[in-house]
Amino acid sequence: MIDLTVDVGGLKLKNPILLASGTVGYGKEIAEFINLKEIGGIVTKSISLKPRAGNLPPRVVETSAGMLNAIGLANVGLEVFIREKIPFLEKLEATIICNIAASSVEEYKICVEELNPIEVIKAFEINVSCPNVKDGGLIFGNNLNSVRQIAAEVRKATEKPVIIKLSPNTADISAFALAAKEEGANAVSAINTLVGASFDIYSRKPKLRNVTGGLSGPAIKPIAIAKVLEISRNVDIPIIGIGGIADWRDAIEFLIAGASAVQLGTINFVNPNAAKEILQGVKNYCEKFNIKKIGELTASYDLNEN
Ligand SMILES: Cc1cc2nc3c(=O)[nH]c(=O)nc-3n(C[C@H](O)[C@H](O)[C@H](O)COP(=O)(O)O)c2cc1C
Repeated sequence: MIDLTVDVGGLKLKNPILLASGTVGYGKEIAEFINLKEIGGIVTKSISLKPRAGNLPPRVVETSAGMLNAIGLANVGLEVFIREKIPFLEKLEATIICNIAASSVEEYKICVEELNPIEVIKAFEINVSCPNVKDGGLIFGNNLNSVRQIAAEVRKATEKPVIIKLSPNTADISAFALAAKEEGANAVSAINTLVGASFDIYSRKPKLRNVTGGLSGPAIKPIAIAKVLEISRNVDIPIIGIGGIADWRDAIEFLIAGASAVQLGTINFVNPNAAKEILQGVKNYCEKFNIKKIGELTASYDLNEN
């Protein structure tokens, strides 16, 4: 028997495969394709205090080996989330991580305070890194002081595990991971999308109304792995690896590079059953290489020259 359980900074998961924020709605959208009880958990779409309509369309465009999105954190807002989405999540018997986005430090704190008593929420993932909003996300994710303040305020609002979702659009991601750790965060997730743009060569107009968007999918995988490795080598904090995972090999690669768990994003749009297939592939790999506990793989890299 392989022990697939992982403990990510106090967040106990039955296995390390999670579904990433923004790619599975509030759970209901994916529940008809996959038994969410079987996977490690799901991260809900970023919630803000007030509902957000997001950016105007077109807000999604396909690119080579990935996609650009400029959804702009469209979401139902805290009140509707609690009233209409939580009851469904409570029935799922899955591990729920609630992702929060805000445009001020105070708003992050209020959201966590309000959601904290809800038992089905097992941890908070704090999105300081959405590249598609002008009133916060990008500025926060690139500003060490803001990330520090957000982590500290959120820490005061809950005893549940706090995961800070980091931006790759910075020169030194481990400085941000260290700041999160110093302010009491239990883990970091890396990475959110990278800023990208695309033009229609005939109209010479940007393909996204927002002009720029967040690049995700297989195109970003090597960057994400480098970021996970960088954090792993410099900061002692559990890491959830995200970025371009499309099959079980990719998931294993992230674990080796330093992740304790992984999240699947864009692949859910291509194959809503991917999490189940990836989980099976990870199990088979462990069996084949006689890995008794999945955690053995985390940061098991060998950087010595042969
Ligand atoms: C359409 C779309 C919407 C997203 N919305 C959010 C969001 O609301 N909050 C968040 O933290 N990340 C959001 N993300 C980022 C993903 O959670 C993930 O970090 C990123 O897509 C990289 O993983 P991937 O390459 O596996 O998709 C979104 C990604 C996509 C593609």
